[in-house]
Amino acid sequence: MISSLIPTLSSELKTKLARPLKIGRVEIHSRVLQSPLSGVTDLVFRRLVRRYAPESMMYTEMVSAKELHHLQELPTIMAIAPNEDPISIQLFDCRPDFMAQAAQKAVAQGTNTIDINMGCPVNKITKKGGGSSLLRQPEVAEAIVKAVVDAVDVPVTVKTRIGWDDNEINIIDFARRMEDRGVQMLTLHARTRAQGYNGTARWEWIAKVKQALSIPVIANGDIFSVEAAIKCLEITNADGVMCSRGTLGYPFLVGEIDYFLKTGEILSPPTTVEKLQCAKEHLLGLWEYKGQRGIYQSRKHLAWYCKGFPGAAELRDYLSQIESVEQGYKILDRAISS
Ligand SMILES: Cc1cc2nc3c(=O)[nH]c(=O)nc-3n(C[C@H](O)[C@H](O)[C@H](O)COP(=O)(O)O)c2cc1C
Repeated sequence: MISSLIPTLSSELKTKLARPLKIGRVEIHSRVLQSPLSGVTDLVFRRLVRRYAPESMMYTEMVSAKELHHLQELPTIMAIAPNEDPISIQLFDCRPDFMAQAAQKAVAQGTNTIDINMGCPVNKITKKGGGSSLLRQPEVAEAIVKAVVDAVDVPVTVKTRIGWDDNEINIIDFARRMEDRGVQMLTLHARTRAQGYNGTARWEWIAKVKQALSIPVIANGDIFSVEAAIKCLEITNADGVMCSRGTLGYPFLVGEIDYFLKTGEILSPPTTVEKLQCAKEHLLGLWEYKGQRGIYQSRKHLAWYCKGFPGAAELRDYLSQIESVEQGYKILDRAISS
């Protein structure tokens, strides 16, 4: 570990962030959260992130309330490992009754909070009235929140964007409506739906929403480093930050930011060997948990770990074709020993 004075937090912010994050009656002892990432934040990934950030809130991949309504068994993406805490199950759909039923199933799984996805930009979902399209139908969003709040006794949170496009940035009004309906925390991905994941996150909107609400507001978008987290917190006065793409192939990020907020010190970054050892662990975890399907899913993760060192591109090519743990281990062990 190395001490650093590079980023600084104002003492006012430092004092605020040293207190637990309160989501209704749930207290979280970290101001850094791991976002829901479809196809990524299964319990194997969360276990790796949690090793470095044991007190941080983690989210499942988004779960379709509609599919859940028709399924006899719960999908594996809703699985929570024993002792996983704090954890939130994220749900999406546009039907209040399905969302309420799904929320009750999520509570039975042991979730600490229910998060409602109102930010997904994917056509398949917005065309059916879910995800970010709810920004254009605030009455439906309100009805969903009301139904879910009435159905469960855990806090209900919302994750959304600043608006549909540059002509429809309605987040201040929308966020107020969510708070009025009983939402206990709002996470704001500071892009419009039209932006997708492009362009920069417009943190100034998070600052405006923070000013307009009394519930905690979590800043999301472009938190790729400790420095970015500090800058974002200073600009927005948000109650915490949520990391997303910055954790792909880098499950250390949430812990690095959390450590800085708690100690004022910068952890030394993992070496390439440590990253590749983590990749091996990720691969084994996916195999043990999902079998052959886990091996196929591991290919993208392994490629994400291989960045920024000599030979990384070649390594990515090999790893993107693996069929077994043994094959992946052989390739990674060769890279580690070289
Ligand atoms: C592969 C991928 C999957 C995602 N899945 C979800 C999801 O299931 N639920 C959700 O609310 N957001 C999802 N997001 C959005 C992220 O949580 C986050 O809001 C977005 O990436 C912005 O943060 P960033 O700029 O730090 O990546 C996903 C993003 C990516 C890249």
